[in-house]
Amino acid sequence: MQTIQTQVISDELRDRFDRAQSVLVLTGAGISAESGVPTFRGGGNTAVWRGMPFDVISSATMVQRDLAAVWEWFDYRRNLLQNLRPNRAHDEIAHWQDRFPQFTLVTQNIDGLHQKAGSREVVELHGNIWRARCVNCNARVEILTDKPRPDICAACGDRLRPDVVLFGEMLPPGAFETAAEKAADCELCFVIGTSAIVYPAASLPEIARSAGGYVCEINPEATPLSNRCDEGLTGKAGEVLPLFSKS
Ligand code: APR
Repeated sequence: MQTIQTQVISDELRDRFDRAQSVLVLTGAGISAESGVPTFRGGGNTAVWRGMPFDVISSATMVQRDLAAVWEWFDYRRNLLQNLRPNRAHDEIAHWQDRFPQFTLVTQNIDGLHQKAGSREVVELHGNIWRARCVNCNARVEILTDKPRPDICAACGDRLRPDVVLFGEMLPPGAFETAAEKAADCELCFVIGTSAIVYPAASLPEIARSAGGYVCEINPEATPLSNRCDEGLTGKAGEVLPLFSKS
C-alpha cells in the first residue's frame, strides 16, 4: 500500500476542488474507523454480536422475533460511541459545507459523528443510533446520554425500536431521492470509507458520474467502485482529507 506521504492530489482534482460550486460527499463506516468505530467489513475489525453476524442481529426479522436482543446490540454500540470523538476527516467535511455554494453530505453511518463535528442537514440513509422510533405510529424520540433509554412511545404507548434501517427494510422516505437528485447535479463527488457493496447507497457515485460529475474515491483498500471512479486516493480519510485544505 502507498504510504500517505506519496499520496498527492492530482492537479485535475485540485483544480476541480478549487472551482467547484456543487459538491456531494458520500461516507461509510470507514470515515469513523479512526475515531474507534468498528467497520462492518474491510479495513478495521468487523462486527459480530453474541456469535450472530451483524446482518442477523440488525434485521427486521429480529425486531419481530426479539426486540430486546436488538436493543441490547444497539445499546452496546451506543455505549461504545458515547465517548468517541469525530476525527480530522469529519472536521474537514464540516468545513466544506461553508466552502461550497451547494454542498450535500450523504452518510450511511448511524453514529452521529458528522453532526458532532458540526455538519448540518446530513442526509442519513440508514437512520441514526441516537434516535428511537415507535413501531406503531412512527413517532421519533432522541436518545440522550444522561437519561435512561425510553422503551415506550409517549404518543401511542406502543414499543420503541432503534431508528436505524435494518437489513430487509426500506430507507427513510425521501432520503435516497434527495441524495440521488443532488448526485445528479454535482460537479464533484467524494466517496469516502465505504465498501460500495450496499445498495442503493452504492449507486450514488454512478448517478453522479453518468451526469458528468467527477468522482473521487478515498479508501485504504480497493472496492468494486474503484475502477469506475475518475480518481482514487489510497489512504485513511483522516490523513487524506486534510490535504485538501493544504494549498
Ligand atoms: N479511512 C477510509 N476508509 C476506511 C478506513 C479509513 N480510516 N478504514 C477502513 N476503511 C474502508 C474499508 O476499506 C472499507 O472499504 O471503509 C470501508 C468500510 O466498509 P463497510 O464496513 O462495508 O462499511 P459501509 O460501506 O459503510 O457499509 C455499508 O452496510 O452493514 C451495512 O448499514 C450498514 O451502513 C452500513 C452499510
